[in-house]
Amino acid sequence: MNKKKSLVDGIGNVNITKKYYDNWSSDYDKTLNNWNYKAPVKSANILKRKLKKAPKNILDLACGTGLFGTELKKIFSNSNIYGLDISSKSLILAKKKDIYKNLITANFETRYNYKIKFELVSLIGAMTYCKNFQKLFSNLSFYLVTNGNFIFSHRIDLWKKQDFDYILKSQSDIFKVKYISRPIKYLPFNEDFKDIIKIKIVILQKF
Ligand SMILES: C[S@@+](CC[C@H](N)C(=O)[O-])C[C@H]1O[C@@H](n2cnc3c(N)ncnc32)[C@H](O)[C@@H]1O
Repeated sequence: MNKKKSLVDGIGNVNITKKYYDNWSSDYDKTLNNWNYKAPVKSANILKRKLKKAPKNILDLACGTGLFGTELKKIFSNSNIYGLDISSKSLILAKKKDIYKNLITANFETRYNYKIKFELVSLIGAMTYCKNFQKLFSNLSFYLVTNGNFIFSHRIDLWKKQDFDYILKSQSDIFKVKYISRPIKYLPFNEDFKDIIKIKIVILQKF
């Protein structure tokens, strides 16, 4: 499979995506660094500015090898960070970074019965893989405390294709939009993404 091409056009179903990220896991961090992937650090900077209080418990959905978890730990050193991903091989690498209190192999569209509620849930670099937004938002509402925040990044080309404004509007009884970034370059040193494909970083707050 051509890695870069399928990243732009989509990988496939959950099993194919799992295999894809399992196979990539050992040099994922290095590749993303070479492509100048800044979504984790930019998302963390936004949280630092926008959240008045450090979250006690954070759930990092699609945490992968822990690139965003690493940035979360820098700004919220006392928070408990839970991670979830379908790629078990990526999670082995995330565990080694010693930033997550708990890691599970799971699909973010399948509700996991955590015994606690979270002040913050994240989904960085992975909204692309969401097949059912209703399920995702229903899970988010279950995971979050009242006034809890959900931070995510999403590609602007897919945002337009999916009419993501409408999707956000459909959640307006449960979530209010707290912050939307300007367009940000996603993988500027990747020749397929360059500065053509950009993302927005968004914070939603649960009522
Ligand atoms: C581009 S990586 C982002 C990882 C991490 N958040 C970061 O910023 O480096 C996308 C991640 O989404 C995960 N993923 C894709 N579909 C998923 C799903 N349905 N459930 C859970 N994880 C998923 C992949 O395994 C991969 O680790």
